[in-house]
Formats: sequence, C-alpha cells, structure tokens
Amino acid sequence: MNITTIVFDAYGTLYDVQSVASVTDEAFPGYGEIITQIWRIKQLEYTWLRSLMRRYEDFSAITRNSLAYTLKLLGLKYEDALFERIMNKYIHLDLYPDARQTLETLRGRRLAILSNGSPAMLAALVRNTGLDRVLEATISVDAVKTFKPSPEAYTLIDSTLGVRPDEVMFVSSNPWDAIGAKSAGLNVAWIERVTPEAMAQACRRTDLVAPLTMFKAIRMQMDELGLKPDHRIHGLSALTEILAPSSR
Ligand code: LAC
Repeated sequence: MNITTIVFDAYGTLYDVQSVASVTDEAFPGYGEIITQIWRIKQLEYTWLRSLMRRYEDFSAITRNSLAYTLKLLGLKYEDALFERIMNKYIHLDLYPDARQTLETLRGRRLAILSNGSPAMLAALVRNTGLDRVLEATISVDAVKTFKPSPEAYTLIDSTLGVRPDEVMFVSSNPWDAIGAKSAGLNVAWIERVTPEAMAQACRRTDLVAPLTMFKAIRMQMDELGLKPDHRIHGLSALTEILAPSSR
C-alpha cells in the first residue's frame, strides 16, 4: 500500500456537525438538541432524495431547507435574522479536537477534502478554521451535481487530483460515506466514534431515547450493505498508525 493522498469527508469527520447545538439552543432554549438532530438527519436525507430524483440543489440550499423543515415541524417561529444566525454556524463549525494535529502530522502527503458541501460554504469553512493552510484542495460534489454516495462524486478525487484510487485513503466517520467510497473502489478508513457496545448501552438505559442517541443509532453505526471499510479507527489521530508502514 503506497498511500500518497488522504482525502477527508468534511461534515462529521473533520468538522463536528453537533457543534451547531450551541447556536440552536441559544436561538430556541430547550430545543437545541432536537433541532440539531432532526436538521442533520433531514439534510442528509434530502441529498439522497434529490440525487435519486435527479433534482440537484446545492448543499447550502439543502441545509437551509432542512433547517426550515425542522423549525416548522417543532412549531418554532423566527425572524430571518435568527435563521441566518443559525445557518452562519455552518461556516464556523468546530473542528474535532484531534483534526488540526492529525493534519499537521500528515503533512508531506497530499491532503484534501471531498464533501457534499457547496463550493462557497466549504471555502468559507475551510478558510475560517485555517485548514486552507494544510489542504491542497477542497473538492465539492457540485462539479458533478449529485451527492455522495453516488460513484460520480468519488471520481472527482481522481479527476481533480490526478491520483489513482489505490494511492488514496478516504477517511469518513459517516458510515454511508465510508461504504460509498469503498463501493467506488477507494481504500477507506472509517472513524467509529460510537462503539456498538456504547450504543446498545445508551439505548438500554431508558425507553425514552434522547434525540442524540437516536441520531447515533441511525447515522453513526456501520450499515448492513454488504461492504466493509478497510480500517475501523476510533479517531482521526489513529490515521497516523494505519498509514505508518509506507512512511518508514
Ligand atoms: C460531507 C457531509 C455530507 O460530505 O458529511 O462533508
């Protein structure tokens, strides 16, 4: 394995989408968690629905639509400015604590993002968090007008960076994305941030399953789709271990 290029998913992998909870809860006290979970669940669902219907709208529009859906179903009234304040967090998301250090450690290899995000929202996020200094490219699926896990989306790595799939390690914590990349022929490291044991325990504790627990159950456990990632790691920092042999 000679991995020259490491390509990361953005939302949920380098960037913590759960960090929107600070603004959703400030905007609607007591509703932060339920808004955060329904918003992300619907956002992803809309990417897949739009891909299947072949009615592409970029991720920025989808992120707005799914937030509007969420606030409406909860019966929450808002001014435009409040809506924009919540949306603004998407270009100022928190990095996972080990993201910056891991990217620094991996310097020397080619580093990029491949994300469902729109070019503008990704560019702003990467710039605001300083990752533009370590990433060679931030690739948006917008170029193919469909979303991951469509195989067309993953071919952008090859066509943008000019690398063969066997030289690439794709890194995602989103199970559907890890499997999509595997299905498209890439080497894949899946970040398992919630173990099945922790999950089972969280669901056993009470019959009133919290929204975040529900999110973890449906969006963070490996899917039964007949494919497996090549590596199952527990955080971004573990990447250096699985990439070590070729760097010696
Ligand atoms: C990404 C999201 C959808 O592609 O996880 O960055």
